[in-house]
Amino acid sequence: MTKAETLARRRQLLGSNLSIAYENPVKLVRGSKQYLYDDEGREYLDAYNNVAHVGHCHPRVVQAGQQQMALLNTNTRYLSELINEYSAKLIATLPASLNVCFFVNSGSEANELALRLARAHTKSQDLIVLDHAYHGNTNALIDISPYKHNGPGGLGAPPWVHTVQLPDVYRGLYRSDEVDAADKYAQHVNEVIQKGGTDRLCGFIAESMPSVGGQIFLPENYLAKVYDAVRSAGGVCIADEVQTGYGRIGTHFWGFQKYGVVPDIVVLGKPIGNGHPIGAVITKREIADSFDNGMEFFSTFGGNNVSCAIGTAVLQTVLEENLQNHAEKVGSRMCQQLRELMSQFEIIGDVRGSGLFLGIELVNDRDTREPATQAATSVVNQMREEGILLGTDGPFHNVLKIRPPMPFTTADGDRLVEKLVGVLGALS
Ligand SMILES: Cc1ncc(COP(=O)(O)O)c(C=O)c1O
Repeated sequence: MTKAETLARRRQLLGSNLSIAYENPVKLVRGSKQYLYDDEGREYLDAYNNVAHVGHCHPRVVQAGQQQMALLNTNTRYLSELINEYSAKLIATLPASLNVCFFVNSGSEANELALRLARAHTKSQDLIVLDHAYHGNTNALIDISPYKHNGPGGLGAPPWVHTVQLPDVYRGLYRSDEVDAADKYAQHVNEVIQKGGTDRLCGFIAESMPSVGGQIFLPENYLAKVYDAVRSAGGVCIADEVQTGYGRIGTHFWGFQKYGVVPDIVVLGKPIGNGHPIGAVITKREIADSFDNGMEFFSTFGGNNVSCAIGTAVLQTVLEENLQNHAEKVGSRMCQQLRELMSQFEIIGDVRGSGLFLGIELVNDRDTREPATQAATSVVNQMREEGILLGTDGPFHNVLKIRPPMPFTTADGDRLVEKLVGVLGALS
């Protein structure tokens, strides 16, 4: 089938609010490492798809899945060393207090479960969330995702959800030139707690680096202050590490470690299965015990043998291929190169990043910081024509998002920067 035929068939057969990337859609047929190949054999450098964390179709992960599929695939009601081994390996990457695992099939399911754990432990419902956050596609998660419930088709937040300012020091209410930006943003959380009374607070959830919010790095001490306030009010702190975990940020294995905090519940998804659907929640024993209230927890596919074999292979690959350090090395160089472009291109308002988690914020005017949304869309489409896959994010879709498979090399980074120079040059 031609690409046009595939597109027409899809329109006929699938829901129309499934979006398609790029004005000129890409029909992919194969992937390897940080490269994707279309139906005409064209190679694309994938600088966007964080799910293929250890690289598209990594042979070790493929083999682990194939072998286990041919041997046994059943559920958690039977004993297996695979799930024990995978849990032990995951727990070994986390601070000591986070030592009980649950497995599900997606980041959304993991966040749903995190909410249930938090509610069971605190016996409260009210949750504090960051503006523009996205935590998943279920009903409750749309309720806690301002990006969705305040966006097109959204119905706003329910009364149990309290939205606080996104601590964005480039575009937000308090900026990087204010020394006490962290305190000021944290004060919004204190206000919610004071207004709501302390007996109703279930907790606080945030991505350690809000990605949908525009590849945001929280001001230092913000999370520490918020976690203290939330815990003093009887709530628990949930870190959504779906995008930021597994060494992506280079300096640390988990995003929250950059801020020196330890959450009560950590939520994992996307990269941990390298494309195989795995979500996980890791928490403290006392929270897991509160959840054990007589109602069985069961996920038919969560923690099945194949998922555990694949999950273990992914984690071992991250560790043995030293991908965290690799991300730090490749990402720092690329970030530096991108920052240097600011003197050449006025449209680049900000470049931020850590490891292979980077954002380039495009603005029409550096003083007003008016978002250059159209230009960002155009850059992403032009880069696609140049054979490099990127995306946009942020409330105004003006942040170019770079979060490639982790095997991405310095040569790939150089190529990306070089192509970007050409595209931005043609734009201006
Ligand atoms: C931060 C974050 N949390 C949760 C999710 C939901 O994960 P999934 O799409 O696997 O359900 C996403 C997905 O984009 C995400 O970015």
